[in-house]
Amino acid sequence: MRTRTFAVFTIAALLAGCRASAPAETVQQMMKNKVQPTAQVYWDAVQYISDENGNRDIVPQTDADWEKVRKAAADLQDYGKLLQTDAYTKGRNPDWVKFSQAMVDVSKQAEQAAKDKNVDKVFEVSGTMYNVCSACHMVYPATVGPEASGTPAPSPSA
Ligand code: HEC
Repeated sequence: MRTRTFAVFTIAALLAGCRASAPAETVQQMMKNKVQPTAQVYWDAVQYISDENGNRDIVPQTDADWEKVRKAAADLQDYGKLLQTDAYTKGRNPDWVKFSQAMVDVSKQAEQAAKDKNVDKVFEVSGTMYNVCSACHMVYPATVGPEASGTPAPSPSA
C-alpha cells in the first residue's frame, strides 16, 4: 500500500516537472497566434492611404478605438517579456534577450503614443516596431510555417 502511494506521487511529480519546463506554446505558435495578430492591430490603427481615390487617413476615432491600440501595445510588452523566460531563451544566444527586450521597449513607446492619442507618433513607432521584429527574424529565421518557405515577413499595412 505504502509502495503504491509512493509510485503515484513519483509519477505526479515527474509530470509536474515536465509541465514546468516546457513552454505553453512554441515560439512559432506564439508568434502566429499572439504576437502577429496583436502587432497587426497596432499597425492597422493608423494608415495614410493614397491611391486612385485620393488621400485618406485611417485613425482611431473613439476612446474605445484608442484603448484597443493601447491594449495591443501593452500585450506586446508582455509577449516580449515572455520571450525572455527560460522556456524561450533555452539554447539561444544572449542576443535573443536583447531582441526581446527591444520589443518590450518599442512597445512601451507604442503604448505611450496611444495614451497620448498621438497619431503621427503611432505611425512612426509602428515602423520602428516592424524593424525590431525583423531584426530578430534575420538572426533567428523561421524553421516551420509559411515564413520557412521564403514567404516575406509580414509588414505594416500602413
Ligand atoms: C526574440 C526574437 C523575436 C522577436 C523579437 C520577434 N520574433 Fe517573430 N519569430 C521569431 C522566431 C524564432 C520565429 C520562427 C519560429 C519557427 O518557425 O520556429 C518567428 C516567427 C514569426 C512569424 C511566423 C509565424 C508562423 O506563422 O510560422 C511571425 C508572423 C512573426 N514571427 C511575427 C513577429 C512580429 C510581428 C514581431 C514583432 C512585434 C516578432 N515576430 C518579433 C522570433 C522573434
